[in-house]
Amino acid sequence: MKKFLLVSIISLLAIFAAACSGDKANEGSTGSGEKASDDKPVIIKFSHVTSIDSVKGQAADHFAKLVEEKTGGKAKVEVYPSSQLYGDNDELDALVSGNVHMIAPSVTKMVKLDPRWQYVDMPFLFNDQEHARKFFESDVAQTLLNSDKLAANDIMGLAFWENGFKHFTNNKHALKNPEDFKGLKFRAQAGKVLEAQFQALGAGSATIAFGETYAALQQGTVDGQENTYNNIDTQKYQEVQKYMTLSEHGRLDYAIFVNKPFWESMPEDIRTQVEEALKEATELEWQLASDENAASLDNIKNSGKVEVLELTAEERQALIDALQPVYDEFTETITPELIDGIRGLQ
Ligand code: LMR
Repeated sequence: MKKFLLVSIISLLAIFAAACSGDKANEGSTGSGEKASDDKPVIIKFSHVTSIDSVKGQAADHFAKLVEEKTGGKAKVEVYPSSQLYGDNDELDALVSGNVHMIAPSVTKMVKLDPRWQYVDMPFLFNDQEHARKFFESDVAQTLLNSDKLAANDIMGLAFWENGFKHFTNNKHALKNPEDFKGLKFRAQAGKVLEAQFQALGAGSATIAFGETYAALQQGTVDGQENTYNNIDTQKYQEVQKYMTLSEHGRLDYAIFVNKPFWESMPEDIRTQVEEALKEATELEWQLASDENAASLDNIKNSGKVEVLELTAEERQALIDALQPVYDEFTETITPELIDGIRGLQ
């Protein structure tokens, strides 16, 4: 009887201890959808590298607001801008490991997992903004978002976000003809395609994280860089660059990626509401890309610090011709299907 009592007391104590430790594990908000309840919202950590006033920064904050509204606070998006949590070198790894749940990188940075994402760097592949948007909504774009290579790394692509066309800047001299690039060194985002692009123009390049680019330009580690009006303006490159050529030679666009196990662990109703929020945020993001890039071009011009050069049709054609070797070298890697698929959308 004594033994029976002792065993019962020990069992009761064990149950009590387990209950207490369970409370502890669920304290505060949770990053896992499975544990979501009324008082413990699902937390979606969203990391990105641009500033809060950039196209991506504004859209990410708007998405966070929509998620809060649509889920009635059952899910919250914590946005970490300006590489404050993870930068170019580690945000993809952080997504794969589940340390963040959502990122919106410039797609060329996905080269680590799938080299086809460098489609975006193929010189003069897109004619205009409308062409880029047709691509975002196309089946070819979906094949990239749903690729096995992403799934194998526990990642899902949900949507394309836009930024715009890239333009060259530098602080040595005006860039009009391919020969003007000779001997200059440029900052590149990632990947072999951009390296080959600068090589074809007789220039050198260095891969430098976005968060370190201003300092690299200021200190002369590199002479120039290529980016959209809005990234140039919101990073204040006009303070450290003297010349900008309106080249529109390549695109810089984003895709939204989520950690798949996290995404699938969310209760279905919440996930549907988050999807709706993303759809609305994406519409706004596209609009912001147009408006903010136009405003940024004005800001750069009005700063009076940068000489802005337009290209004649002949100068543009000379650049297209000089960059042909990039197609010779990389069409197989990017795949003819993808390149022809994009061209076919014009
Ligand atoms: C860059 O590195 O220049 C861009 O990818 C930054 C960004 O996210 O727009």
